[in-house]
Amino acid sequence: MKKMLALVLSCIMVLAIAGCGGGDNAPASSSSSSSAQTGGKKIGVAMPTQSSQRWIADGKNMKEKLEKLGYTVDLQYAEDDVQAQVSQIENMITNGANCLVIASIDSNALVNVLEQAKANNIPVIAYDRLLMDTDSVSYYATFDNKGVGVAIGKYIEDKMGLKEGKGPYNIEFFAGSPDDNNAHFLNTGVFEVLQPYLTSGQLVCVSGQTSFDAICTLRWSQETAQKRMEDILSGYYSTGKNLDIVVSPFDGISYGVSAALEGAGYKVGQKWPMITGQDAELMASKNILSGKQSMTIFKDTRILADKCVKMVQAVLEGGQPEINDTTSYNNNKKIVPSYLCSPVPVDKANLQKELIDSGYYKKAELE
Ligand code: BGC
Repeated sequence: MKKMLALVLSCIMVLAIAGCGGGDNAPASSSSSSSAQTGGKKIGVAMPTQSSQRWIADGKNMKEKLEKLGYTVDLQYAEDDVQAQVSQIENMITNGANCLVIASIDSNALVNVLEQAKANNIPVIAYDRLLMDTDSVSYYATFDNKGVGVAIGKYIEDKMGLKEGKGPYNIEFFAGSPDDNNAHFLNTGVFEVLQPYLTSGQLVCVSGQTSFDAICTLRWSQETAQKRMEDILSGYYSTGKNLDIVVSPFDGISYGVSAALEGAGYKVGQKWPMITGQDAELMASKNILSGKQSMTIFKDTRILADKCVKMVQAVLEGGQPEINDTTSYNNNKKIVPSYLCSPVPVDKANLQKELIDSGYYKKAELE
């Protein structure tokens, strides 16, 4: 009898724990009260690529947070293949998605498939990258993309003593993918800070390549950036000029730039240029500690996912999501109500605080 009672009690305890939402890996249906609210609705999450660490974290965070609320999640990566992303979104629509969350590869290429979403009354949320030329987008969760560029520019201004009149320094510029609205915003921020120093001659772009068209990098590709850096080094710096600063808008591009510099005989610690970046990838963080990269921009994907999940809840369950910008993001059809998270510049001085103390990385991962 006692044994029976113990068995019954332990069953009750297990059920109670499961009812409390379970662990991270708990299936969606275990959080019964939330799935009652969310009705097990399906969310299609379309991500661009797994070739960069940040998007893997973005997808994982979104899936976990949505499943905890009782949603069913169809998470897809298109490996930077535009047509593959279109097909994935078409499949999500066919399979009865109730809401789509999209981080696009080419933001102009989704206009038709987003029309289909609209025809099926499926709300769409733009994740990190704005969806252009469509009115089929309800909200946009992102970081302050111009702010990222301003932070990169200010870092250079500050560390190179530009305000104090120091220079001249030789500088080369890299921008992101021309089909990503973020790349344009970021670049505007960089030049807003640095253009006056190009004009004054404290910064000298030896290649003369400063227009967006000249410096952009299709698909933010590391290989493309490496090739362009190699061409610039052999074409403009082979006669003894030292490259002092490289503006890179993404950690992946910074790796390509570093590889080209090493190939041209530059050595870390010996007139190695200041190199910027974005995303606080693990490898970039290690490179910051070793002196290969000077800084990166930390975008806490946990916060972005939180804001985006609130948008999903708002469009599906009613209510207003948190919005803090209703003017900046005009996609040529409408101004998309947005939440802009704050980017944080990270270098050797604050890496411990921002990336380790905040729990984004474990200390051991960086060793
Ligand atoms: C994102 C950046 C990222 C870049 C390359 C941009 O849209 O905002 O965080 O570095 O894409 O993946």
